[in-house]
Amino acid sequence: MTSTHSVFADLTVSLGERSYPIIIGRHLLDQADFAHHIPGKRVAIVTNTIVAPLYLQRLTDMLEAAGKHCLAIVLADGEEEKNVDNLMRIFDALLENKCDRKTTLVALGGGVIGDMTGFAAATYMRGVPFVQIPTTLLAQVDSSVGGKTAINHPLGKNMIGAFYQPQSVLADTATLSTLPQRELSAGLAEVIKHGAIIDTEFFSWLEAHMDQLMARDDAALAHVIQRSCEIKADVVRQDERESGLRAILNFGHTFGHAIEAGMGYGEWLHGEAVGCGMVMAADLSHRLGYLSAQDKSRITALVKAAGLPVVAPDLGADRWLELMEVDKKNEGGEIKFILLKPLGQAIITGVPNELLKVTLAACVGQES
Ligand code: NAD
Ligand code: GLY
Repeated sequence: MTSTHSVFADLTVSLGERSYPIIIGRHLLDQADFAHHIPGKRVAIVTNTIVAPLYLQRLTDMLEAAGKHCLAIVLADGEEEKNVDNLMRIFDALLENKCDRKTTLVALGGGVIGDMTGFAAATYMRGVPFVQIPTTLLAQVDSSVGGKTAINHPLGKNMIGAFYQPQSVLADTATLSTLPQRELSAGLAEVIKHGAIIDTEFFSWLEAHMDQLMARDDAALAHVIQRSCEIKADVVRQDERESGLRAILNFGHTFGHAIEAGMGYGEWLHGEAVGCGMVMAADLSHRLGYLSAQDKSRITALVKAAGLPVVAPDLGADRWLELMEVDKKNEGGEIKFILLKPLGQAIITGVPNELLKVTLAACVGQES
């Protein structure tokens, strides 16, 4: 049943009594040793039609061997499925199967399953335990850590949700072997984000190793997952509920969320929209005199090397503004942006609309 496994990192998100481990390793999914990170006797595994045939049986076997009873809830795949109907499907299955408040919800999948399962866990019977088993690079480097849970609303991305921390995060890097290349690139967007906002040494490392990452070199992937989780855990430790600092993790997201909603959820992958959004935010940072032309070009080049789009879709200037006006960071109607001042440091700020329009015109439909 078991394959040879190895643990690369065992980190902690330090939040007092709600602290939890992030275990990063290869072939963790079928290791009974890790079952103790999933509390309770009863476990509801939420996953989707793509991930279930790949990894559900293995996880169920491992948990049942550890004496747990498993229920599987298999949802349709896709960002467009991160909605209230699927949230209800989770609640329906939990209630039909008489799951009580000691039932642990396990998210087995990418960020869509993780965010939606987390929100279900935060609200089912006013809160049940929850574990993240991320199976995409994006989820392993970002979404499974930090307790942001949500579903989308047709009028805005992630607009309905809660802060709700998992009990543990188990990232099995072996699951990345089945990930489509486009999804690997999407995950790299969030990795680049971590370098750009906080760690220039990591950013330079990414420039030097992007080829290995694109070729799925094990050691290179393990390094970026570990470094990303360290950076994110440290930010979350300081500002769990985004009263300030945590907003910097949204670098590229003001533009990115507008692309996702404007194109229709699922058309551009979240990571693709964030990649292009970072190029746009770098352009805006440069126009404000915060970022050098050279560092702006480095960001564009790295995003491109990760196989991500660097040219924004032409939504029309008015529609762009309308979409960006629906963003959780905004205050008093002012659109807020995370900008680099300089590379490796991020600020949150409003910008004059005229300048924003110049960036939109420069980034839409043409290579910068
Ligand atoms: P996703 O969950 O849609 O997964 C991408 C695709 O890969 C899906 O088709 C999925 O079924 C498939 N898949 C998953 N694991 C696989 C595997 N091992 N092998 C083959 N296919 C696999 O998308 P994502 O990029 O993981 O996550 C994006 C979502 O995460 C967005 O909704 C975004 O808003 C959210 N997000 C949340 C946070 C947070 O802090 N909570 C942070 C970043 C992103
Ligand atoms: N991905 C943004 C955050 O977790 O805060």
